[in-house]
Amino acid sequence: MRTQVAIIGGGPAGLLLAQLLHIAGIDSVVLEQRSRAYVEARIRAGVLEQGTVDLLDKVGAATRLHAEGLLHDGVMLVADGQSFRIDLHGLTGKPVTVYGQTELTRDLNAILAEREQPVFEAQDVALHDVATDKPFVTYRKDGRDVRLDCDFIAGCDGAHGVSHTAIPKDLLKTYERLYPFGWLGLMADVPPCSPELIYSNHPRGFALASMRSTQRSRYYVQVPLDEKIADWPDERVWDELALRLGPEAAAGMTRGPSLEKSIAPLRSYVAEPMRHGRLFLAGDAAHIVPPTGAKGLNLAASDAHYLSGALIDFYRTGTQKGLDGYSAQALARVWKAVRFSWWFTQLMHRFPGDDDFAHKVQMAELDYLSRSPAAATAMAENYVGLPF
Ligand code: APR
Ligand code: PHB
Repeated sequence: MRTQVAIIGGGPAGLLLAQLLHIAGIDSVVLEQRSRAYVEARIRAGVLEQGTVDLLDKVGAATRLHAEGLLHDGVMLVADGQSFRIDLHGLTGKPVTVYGQTELTRDLNAILAEREQPVFEAQDVALHDVATDKPFVTYRKDGRDVRLDCDFIAGCDGAHGVSHTAIPKDLLKTYERLYPFGWLGLMADVPPCSPELIYSNHPRGFALASMRSTQRSRYYVQVPLDEKIADWPDERVWDELALRLGPEAAAGMTRGPSLEKSIAPLRSYVAEPMRHGRLFLAGDAAHIVPPTGAKGLNLAASDAHYLSGALIDFYRTGTQKGLDGYSAQALARVWKAVRFSWWFTQLMHRFPGDDDFAHKVQMAELDYLSRSPAAATAMAENYVGLPF
């Protein structure tokens, strides 16, 4: 088999890249190791920046998003029980759109399915000769070995993918921060407790009230890393949320059985550069951010935007300039989101071992955010997404 761009991984980065290339007349094959059912049931984050929505519009994948997504003009922050609002739209002119990554993946899959893409359940994907101008990919599908020749490979296979292993270790510089806690997430088919998201810094730890629709809520509580999900029956999660989010949210909270409940660690990670020869990394394959601020999916989208632009330029004019500049261009935006999600994580969580000084500084910063339009604007600008 032959294609122009072999895309490893059918998450948001790979699917969006495939569709951006497709509308420019560039052929690609997306190799996804999981089944369609698995990918479309996987629960992920759910806040889209306007730039991400614009990209989905551009590729014709935003019809359901516009019908079902919720436009949010602000977010609530709570500091030791005192709540205040960041007026995202008033401060930046932009809203965010609440729409699940799961739904977005379904929408993109439906479009790609028209040309029998992605190739699901592609096993043992391996990258070859990426530093030459004749790279290729091998994999197994339905028990048969396949070789896919291509001009370029896009590594969009997430944090646990294989693409990044094709870059020699001595050429990669990695940067990492591990956070000493996780998020326990709970999804339930109950109306949200508040019309806007609530991020709370409480003496018992961080909590977040989010949603997927007016009938489906998504909640998180900060928990120690070694916590077991078995120790968190639904009622305990609801009780903890009610305490941490404060009396107003608690009064508006409808409890219900969890559809899903899991604990995820928090991590910041960047691998540089995002290119080796004819292999280009995009999305979680190159960088991870903690979920505070919901930047992961939006970074996958901006990478897909930059990489598609560079590839389109190459196929139209033969220029390598965009390809040569891709890593630096993508990383400049990535690092700003890494900084923002690290800052927001630090501001909103209780770190084990923190003393009263650390707590006072957090509360002073939250108070400053609540009173200073300059500080609130800096926060809002990053939350709604920096320009591409
Ligand atoms: N071969 C083929 N596909 C693979 C392989 C492999 N060896 N390893 C992983 N994959 C697939 C995964 O099954 C997944 O569908 O690659 C896809 C990567 O998708 P994501 O993890 O969603 O990553 P990305 O597209 O970069 O999107 C980033 O997703 O993880 C969230 O929070 C993250 O919101 C962020 C977004
Ligand atoms: C979510 O709805 O899953 C979500 C929302 C906002 C975040 C993180 C996760 O900052």
